[in-house]
Amino acid sequence: MRITLNVLQKMAQEGNKITMLTCYDASFAALLEAAGVESLLIGDSLGMVLQGHESTLPVTLRDMVYHTSCVAKGAKRAFIIGDMPFGTFQLSPQDAFRNAAEVMAAGANMVKIEGGKPMLETIEFLTRRGIPVCGHLGLTPQSVHQLGGYRVQGKGDAAAQLMLEEAKLLEQAGAGMIVLEAVPSLLARDITAALRVPTIGIGAGVECSGQVLVLHDMLDIYPGKKAKFVKNYMRLAGTIQGAVEMYVKEVKARTYPGPEHSFSG
Ligand code: KIV
Repeated sequence: MRITLNVLQKMAQEGNKITMLTCYDASFAALLEAAGVESLLIGDSLGMVLQGHESTLPVTLRDMVYHTSCVAKGAKRAFIIGDMPFGTFQLSPQDAFRNAAEVMAAGANMVKIEGGKPMLETIEFLTRRGIPVCGHLGLTPQSVHQLGGYRVQGKGDAAAQLMLEEAKLLEQAGAGMIVLEAVPSLLARDITAALRVPTIGIGAGVECSGQVLVLHDMLDIYPGKKAKFVKNYMRLAGTIQGAVEMYVKEVKARTYPGPEHSFSG
């Protein structure tokens, strides 16, 4: 039976850590869920790790629909989240709905939207019309040029306060889950404690409700620069299956991420 958002939300409430990895095709989808990964994110990171672009910005809705349909064919049990690419959700809630509906029709169980306050109306519009939305705060890679690089976000009291407030507003608008990327651990802990919906951390410390990594980073396939929070599970385990199983085990046991993969405020 397919894992649902309700199941993931219950896991978070019970302190059972949620495991998520990015995934872009059917073979990996089957392998990841067999290794115990509960949720698969068709991230627009595919623009970098599959397509070789310097950022996620060139990824199109067509790309996302294609890869979501591939993952949905391979995954029978995992909860599937499709990223909304740059330019497909910012224009208006109506435009976002039309585009998100295509990702859902391709097999996603939820869509992910980057951004805080400016996205509230769209999140409310989508969730009230049957499309579950995962928010994404902190380092939002589609805004890399606005942020001035891939940097830790929410450092300092004012920025931390703003992110906490935005997380609460996203939840009120209907977001059923929130990814926190490159956020100081104590801030991610406070945000997680303030919400009822799960937080999924990537470079956000061990106190989030679950963890996600880009598959090609943790398998050490991507040749580009690795962030501090990436752990090379392939080097440790030696096989893809073993690497993913080790990741699942460590997330569940709260031994990943360690302090060496985390940021201070
Ligand atoms: O695109 C992606 O893979 C993501 C994760 C890094 C959270 O958004």
